[in-house]
Amino acid sequence: MAQCCINPSILSADFVNLEAELRRISNADAVHVDVMDNHFVPNLTIGLPVVQRIQAVSPVPLDAHLMIADADRWAPGFADAGVASVTFHAEASIAPIKLARELRARGAKAGMALRPGTAVEPYLDMLPELDLLLIMTVEPGFGGQSFLDLTLPKIRRARAAIDGSGVAVALQVDGGITEETIVRAAEAGANVFVAGSAVYGAEDPAQAVERLRAAGSR
Ligand code: DX5
Ligand code: ZN
Repeated sequence: MAQCCINPSILSADFVNLEAELRRISNADAVHVDVMDNHFVPNLTIGLPVVQRIQAVSPVPLDAHLMIADADRWAPGFADAGVASVTFHAEASIAPIKLARELRARGAKAGMALRPGTAVEPYLDMLPELDLLLIMTVEPGFGGQSFLDLTLPKIRRARAAIDGSGVAVALQVDGGITEETIVRAAEAGANVFVAGSAVYGAEDPAQAVERLRAAGSR
């Protein structure tokens, strides 16, 4: 059985007690950090200085999801800060191949995200440049939204392309992941799952991580 990865999103955590909140999910595979700039998405969260502090105290590696405009300019700084995996949005990058190479050159895993309405096909030739492809399963910007089932065919097509290309690209989904929706996303081919409210909304976040991992592994 292939075990999946569960990356809790701290967007649903208590931002005033982040260090303690991180310790509650020390059994996670990585911690998903949502960076929003109020331009690419209509919400504002945290920037590089806070991400650096999270990085310093986190028991698990960081998976930064940059929902920011002008990714070409800002994303490399997160790699320089030592963030393990840096994901930029394809819609926010002028030169995604160049940017992915730059992230890898600076020692990070290169991730690229697609909004629900963005087709994956134009990007399939660049799969070898990526370590992670994120298919958003809600419109980015806020936690607690409902999983969009209309993204399932795109997840399936991305999985087929990744398997066909023979490259080791993780297929991540983010948005509305619960113990129920994770099963459909996993069936479609996703193997890395971001969950905010399903983890931090639970009484015991570590237990929620284990339950999601069991439901999403196949
Ligand atoms: C939304 C963020 C997500 C969010 C997921 O734009 O990218 O990472 O925290 O939250 P849930 O799991 O509650 O949908
Ligand atoms: Zn996210």
